[in-house]
Amino acid sequence: MKLALRDWPEVAERSGLTRRARDQHGASVREVPLVRHVDLNNGNAVLEVEPVGGSIAEYSARAAALAGAFGAVRVSIEPGRSPGMVRLTVVDADPLSDTRVSTNPYVVGDGVRVALGVFEDGSPWEHDWVDASHVALQGATRSGKSVITYSLLGGVAGRDDVIVTGVDPTGVLFRPWLNHPASDLRVSGTRDMSAAAAVLHRLTEIVDARIAALGDRDKVEAFSAEEPLLLVVLEEYPGVLAASMAEDAGQARKPAERVQPRIKRSVQRLVQEGAKVGVRVLILAQRMDAEIIGGAERSNLGTRVSMRVDAPEAVRMLHPQAPQDVPERMTYASPGVAYVDVPGRGGRWTKANLMEYGDYLAVVRGENKNVVPS
Ligand SMILES: Nc1ncnc2c1ncn2[C@@H]1O[C@H](COP(=O)(O)OP(=O)(O)O)[C@@H](O)[C@H]1O
Ligand SMILES: [Mg+2]
Repeated sequence: MKLALRDWPEVAERSGLTRRARDQHGASVREVPLVRHVDLNNGNAVLEVEPVGGSIAEYSARAAALAGAFGAVRVSIEPGRSPGMVRLTVVDADPLSDTRVSTNPYVVGDGVRVALGVFEDGSPWEHDWVDASHVALQGATRSGKSVITYSLLGGVAGRDDVIVTGVDPTGVLFRPWLNHPASDLRVSGTRDMSAAAAVLHRLTEIVDARIAALGDRDKVEAFSAEEPLLLVVLEEYPGVLAASMAEDAGQARKPAERVQPRIKRSVQRLVQEGAKVGVRVLILAQRMDAEIIGGAERSNLGTRVSMRVDAPEAVRMLHPQAPQDVPERMTYASPGVAYVDVPGRGGRWTKANLMEYGDYLAVVRGENKNVVPS
């Protein structure tokens, strides 16, 4: 973008980020935040700014004013690289408003990487199932959760070192996986929640066996057809819990026989103990309420993704460190727009690629080949 740094004092002034002070002669002067560093990132300017007095919260509150003064689409505020500094990403092009269709989310290279979208600074949003731990994905109906999941799962199709397991009450997500390995570890629909409880319990037994077989290793890092990475997908997890509770009530089960508490217990164990032995849990919900996923488990969900949700508390719950403008922006985010937190990197806005269901079916069924290196 054509960012003229000589305009910065005026931009800062118009955005209310300068400060009046007196010099040593008692004359009134205007203190301007110092721009320490400028980077160009995919056409967007990234400024490291040393504030005069004001905190990062103040910058967040003035983000819209800054965008107006810069004549930019948006300005995103993050903590800078060194303490006390603030990073401004001046977004000129807007990746969040573009629709990008993806037909093949597999990323060639190390790990089990899938292409999910583009961050607002234009850099790619990729997810490495090996590197990352578990994933929490929340958003209102039609915010774009399933589409991200098509990329997350479609990108591992054709690999023999990853298997897809879990519970899909919709039946839509697991449909193309029918003839793939480990079909006994996938449950579709809500007709038999005892089967769902049994599969999740079986997965905890696999975790136990893998922990017992660790030997001198502290975790499993390399995956193969013999010891594959296990993705445990819990699509519409609150729906799974509701259906299992209804089944318990319908069959008048005694407390010890109820399947809903068994499902919750297994999920809790998979989240808390599975990561080091190659289990990655993906939980999808309209909102990650405390009744759905407790605090201790939530702290193990390293990758947190929120899409349009109406309740600001739901955003705060998953992204306690997010700047104050995030929950509000989240209430009017368009489909595919997400706020993503990954460990060691603060939250960022992103736009997911649009993977159509037909392309997902084709890629998982092998009709539309993922480029998997041999
Ligand atoms: N990344 C995206 N880019 C553009 N449109 C999207 C994107 N994700 C979702 N949509 C639109 O929103 C609709 C609902 O998405 P879906 O993933 O089914 O929502 P959810 O699972 O949250 O209910 C899709 O059919 C599509 O039209
Ligand atoms: Mg969905």
